[in-house]
Amino acid sequence: VDLSDNTNLFGAPPNALAGFRTSDSTRLTRYPSLYAGGLKRAIARYLSVDETNIVTGCGSDDVLDSTIRALCDPGDIVATSDPSFSMIPLHARMNGLHCEQAPLDAGLDIDADALLAAAARVTYMCSPNNPTGTLASRDAVERVIAGAPGVVILDEAYAEFTSESQAQRAAVSSNVLVVRMFSKAFGLAGLRIGYAVGAADLVNEVEKSRGPFKVNAPAEEAATVALTSDLEWMREKVAEVLYLREKFSVELKRLGLSPLPSSANFVMVPVTDANSVAARMRDRSVAVREFTSLPRIGDALRISIGPWDMMAEALAALEAALQ
Ligand SMILES: Cc1ncc(COP(=O)(O)O)c(C=O)c1O
Repeated sequence: VDLSDNTNLFGAPPNALAGFRTSDSTRLTRYPSLYAGGLKRAIARYLSVDETNIVTGCGSDDVLDSTIRALCDPGDIVATSDPSFSMIPLHARMNGLHCEQAPLDAGLDIDADALLAAAARVTYMCSPNNPTGTLASRDAVERVIAGAPGVVILDEAYAEFTSESQAQRAAVSSNVLVVRMFSKAFGLAGLRIGYAVGAADLVNEVEKSRGPFKVNAPAEEAATVALTSDLEWMREKVAEVLYLREKFSVELKRLGLSPLPSSANFVMVPVTDANSVAARMRDRSVAVREFTSLPRIGDALRISIGPWDMMAEALAALEAALQ
């Protein structure tokens, strides 16, 4: 039972999967479209923005990396919260940049003043935040957008699990890029498809630094089908995750734990000595993601939410590991 990476544990979207299985062999022998134009149009319809506001990539990791490379020169600063998405400091380093990490505030909200103090070329925020699952307050997000000297990336990898999104606003802002993907709610992590929404000039710069042919042909086809024919499936699975997340959190509390309030498809739960708890859970064939010495939180486990039989196994393994 692998609950370590926040993917869709209910499976792949059915129509996208059916199309993938019967895909024409020219999908493999020929190059894909240069810049995934068909997918951009489908995303634009999904989010009610214009296709010129979209850039796609090989997973949102690729979009984040290309954005940082497009907007920064070696030696510049990228600012992010701590804890937040663990790839940001790595993308910064790989592009020759310094990463300033500002701890979340005492309420686990983004600390706008601390982020702004970095005066970064690119300021990164993630909401709902990975790994905490917490939603950033509107006040903090607005203060960062208003005060940041450079571009603000708002990572909405888990937006489908909330009713909050700044995607439409990003399309008409000059300095906000909203990053989204197909790896979580849409169940297509293996196909590697991510995208960002922003002003046409801004996404164009990201596209130039990313280059052509980054979304492969079967991936573009599957994501386009998912957006046109699997939205109902996706929304049903999201509703199920939200219900199971609350049920799971109640059980965690019954074990004497204090899960953080989550707005995503996973729950972070502080524990003593996360490494050994996670290792003991792995001995019982349950994988979760362990974190140690997080600012404000300490040691914790991040546990994806899936069908209840998986969650029941996770609970049993956790209960045994805690003893
Ligand atoms: C917040 C966040 N952003 C980006 C990513 C990268 O996802 P992908 O490259 O699969 O689109 C992840 C993956 O876990 C994530 O949690």
